Amino acid sequence: MKQNMFAKYLIWIAEIFTEAKSFEANPILGNRLLNRLGLHVIRLIMARLITAFRRWILSWNISSAHRREFRHKGYLHISNVLPPELFKRLQDEGEHCWPEIRAFIQGDTTTRIAFLDQEALKQLPAARMLCESSSIRDLLTYVASTAIRPWPHFLRVCNRGGEVNDDPQKHFHSDTFHPTMKAWLFLEDVTADKGPFQYVEGSHRLTLKRLCWEYRQSIQGRQLNERYAARGSLRIAESELASLDLLHIQTFDVPANTLVIADTSGFHRRGEAAAGSSRLSVYFSSRLNPYIPFPLPDFEPINRFAEKQVAKQVASTTTRATSNE
Ligand SMILES: [Fe+2]
Repeated sequence: MKQNMFAKYLIWIAEIFTEAKSFEANPILGNRLLNRLGLHVIRLIMARLITAFRRWILSWNISSAHRREFRHKGYLHISNVLPPELFKRLQDEGEHCWPEIRAFIQGDTTTRIAFLDQEALKQLPAARMLCESSSIRDLLTYVASTAIRPWPHFLRVCNRGGEVNDDPQKHFHSDTFHPTMKAWLFLEDVTADKGPFQYVEGSHRLTLKRLCWEYRQSIQGRQLNERYAARGSLRIAESELASLDLLHIQTFDVPANTLVIADTSGFHRRGEAAAGSSRLSVYFSSRLNPYIPFPLPDFEPINRFAEKQVAKQVASTTTRATSNE
C-alpha cells in the first residue's frame, strides 16, 4: 500500500515537467502552499519561454506579416485559403465522406467528429491535398511550436438549443497553461447564429496582469468553482477581461474557405447559436510537452506514434454515431 502511494507521488512529481494541468487530479499541481510559492506560475513562465524558442526555430519560413499578426493577436485569419476547385471537392468530402463518425455531447451542443489518420486520408484526396499543403502546414506547426504532423478531423458542431450555461465551451476559457494550437478551415459560411468561434485578442500574451490572475487562480486550484477550471482549463468572466487590459473580442463569423489558427492558451469560446444550426469544418490540433526544448521533427515514426495516441483519445472520449447531420 505504502509502495503504491510512493509510486503515485513519483508520477505526480514527474508530471510537473509535462503538459499535465489538472489541480484536481494531481495533488502536487493542486497544492495550495506550492502554488502560493509559485509552482503554477513558474511552470507557466518556463512553458512560455520554451515554446517561444520552439516557435522561433520554426519561424524561418513564415512571412513577417503572419508572425506579426500572430504575436499581436494570438491567431491567424486567412480568407480564401484553398483554390476554389480544391475547396469544392473538400466541401463534398466533408459533407459526405466521413470514415467513422464519433460524437460527444456538452450541454446543448453535440460535436460530431472523424479523425483523419493516414489510412482515412487515402480515401479522401482533397483532404489529403490540404494536409500536404506545405504553406498551410508551416503555419500550423509554427503556432503549435512543433514540426510533427498536425492532427486533422472533420468536425460538425450541432446546436440543439437550450441553456447556454450547459455547454462549458460557451464560456471564455484557456485550454491549458501552455501555448497550444487549434485550427479550423470552415467548409461553409459561419453566420452569427451558428455559434462562431470567438477569441479575445492578445489573450495569449503573458502580461504581468495575466500572471497575477493565473497566480490567484492557482491558489484556489482544486477549490475553483467550475469543474473544468479545477481540471486546469481556467475560466474567466467576460466582465473580468477589461481588468487584464483585454478589450477586443474577435468573432469569426466568416465565409467558407476561411482558415483560423489560434493559440488556445488564449481566452476563447463558442458563440451563442440558434437551435438546429450547425457548422462544419476541417479541424486541426497539435500539442507537445511544453518542456521539450526543441520542436519535434516531422519524422514518420513520431508522427505515427502521435496519431495512434490521438485515435485512442478520440475513441475514449466519444461514442460511435451514425450520421454527421
Ligand atoms: Fe477551448
